[in-house]
Amino acid sequence: MAVRTAVIPAAGMGTRFLPATRATPKELLPIYDTPALQFVIDEAAQAGCTRVVIVTSRAKPSIENYASAASTDKVAVTVVYQDSPLGLGHAVSCARQAVGDEPFVVMLPDEIMGDASLTKQLVALYEKSGKSSVGLKRVAAVEVSSYGNVKVADTKIGDATSVEILQVIEKPKPADAVSDIVIIGRYVLSPKTFEKLEQVKPSANGELQLTDALAMLASEHALLGVVSEITRYDTGTPMGLLRAVIEIALERKDIGPQLNSWLKEKFNK
Ligand code: G1P
Repeated sequence: MAVRTAVIPAAGMGTRFLPATRATPKELLPIYDTPALQFVIDEAAQAGCTRVVIVTSRAKPSIENYASAASTDKVAVTVVYQDSPLGLGHAVSCARQAVGDEPFVVMLPDEIMGDASLTKQLVALYEKSGKSSVGLKRVAAVEVSSYGNVKVADTKIGDATSVEILQVIEKPKPADAVSDIVIIGRYVLSPKTFEKLEQVKPSANGELQLTDALAMLASEHALLGVVSEITRYDTGTPMGLLRAVIEIALERKDIGPQLNSWLKEKFNK
């Protein structure tokens, strides 16, 4: 079945960005002149999605205002609400009715990708295999405990980058890490994931982890991954956002050259 819906969890309170997030949700903070949320909506459309469902909170009415202006002739953008902050797994399950009984993409808006290639690869892998597929990346050992960590099978599937995922652990202690491969914020999930989410028990902090539903899929040999070297900006912290603004602005044809010469002038003093 074709993958036509993208779910963007955007209900978090953005406390790392206070005081900016007193009035502006972090997903709407600008990367030069474009909110992070718009980059993710554009990526979904480029990957062939015609529907975007943003999971937000009633405490963030500007997300709904933005969504109502963000639909185009290619993509319809709507919102659903997550009324309690019960974690990523709960946020995804709040989109169940809007998604329906079909596969869907999950895109975490704290991560901006250099292009839509990873999401396109994951969609293609799902459409070929019928199995949920997640974006993966190799990181330095010290970074593993900030992510969902996966153990993959030695055999590659199809092309050089697709692998079967055998085991998934959310943010392991360094001693418990199963590899140097982690989940990055792009997933293409089968509708069966919603049933698995119903069975997930709250983790120590009371949240329902999406990773625990993925672990159930992995135990049934129903989870694949693509190990990617895509350019990725982590905009989940103020420093990450600042780097993304500078790097993305430097890439732009309209302002890149001007920014580049200003930076050179500044640092050559
Ligand atoms: C979430 C997921 C984690 C994943 C990460 C990617 O964590 O729970 O498995 O590796 O996104 O950014 P968060 O960063 O929201 O704590």
